[in-house]
Amino acid sequence: MNRQLRQTVIAGNWKMNMLTAEAKAFADALAPLVPDYKNWCEVVICAPFVLLPDAAKNFKGMDAGVGAQNMSEHPFGAFTGEICAAQLADIGVSHVIIGHSERREYYGENDCTVNAKVLAALSAGLKPILCVGESLKQRETGVTNDLVSMQVKAALHGVSPDSIRDVIIAYEPVWAIGTGMTATPEDAQSVCAAIRDVLKGIYGEDAAQSITIQYGGSMNDKNAFELLSQPDIDGGLIGGASLKPETFAAIINAANQ
Ligand code: PGA
Repeated sequence: MNRQLRQTVIAGNWKMNMLTAEAKAFADALAPLVPDYKNWCEVVICAPFVLLPDAAKNFKGMDAGVGAQNMSEHPFGAFTGEICAAQLADIGVSHVIIGHSERREYYGENDCTVNAKVLAALSAGLKPILCVGESLKQRETGVTNDLVSMQVKAALHGVSPDSIRDVIIAYEPVWAIGTGMTATPEDAQSVCAAIRDVLKGIYGEDAAQSITIQYGGSMNDKNAFELLSQPDIDGGLIGGASLKPETFAAIINAANQ
């Protein structure tokens, strides 16, 4: 990370976990564990839709951001079961995860829908956390950088130079998500640097240097410090280890370096 140039962002992705009371207990327990976190990073909790209104209230005291894990690419309308960006913004949501590999794999999201969602989020004032990453097979075939570059370019198609500063990119190798297998700090750094290079090609050096790029995939309290000490890794998107206040707090504290 490079705190002179860009914001460090530690985001928890609760996925389909937690009930109302657990989420409240989490918020109550987290705040005293990280009293000064604002001095070195931003914290965002990405909760299931139904918990978001409460989360917006519960995390207000510690001034943490609250994010959704998905949203519709459409504005209001006849889209049964969907939730649009304006509805999220209306209840105090600040961020939204877009294109998570579980959405791509289980719900048929592709680079086109991901691009449409990024644009829709930005136009409602939400900050997208755009997820990209390769499968194990793609890594073994040696196409990681090409594939990830293509995902980034496709997802950002039509995003203006003004808006790009509101986008966070999360590099999440699919094979590392929820598996306990983490990319080595060197491998994660190398892909994050390649992503920054793509951003430089589209938006120029200054903008590229200002964009937060997170690593995600089995980041935990043990490996966070080393991953976060890489020059192009500006934070983490954390699944399993974000479900316990103690481990999530340890990761937030590991970003204080
Ligand atoms: P994990 O999940 O930390 O449990 O691997 C990360 C993610 O899916 O964002």
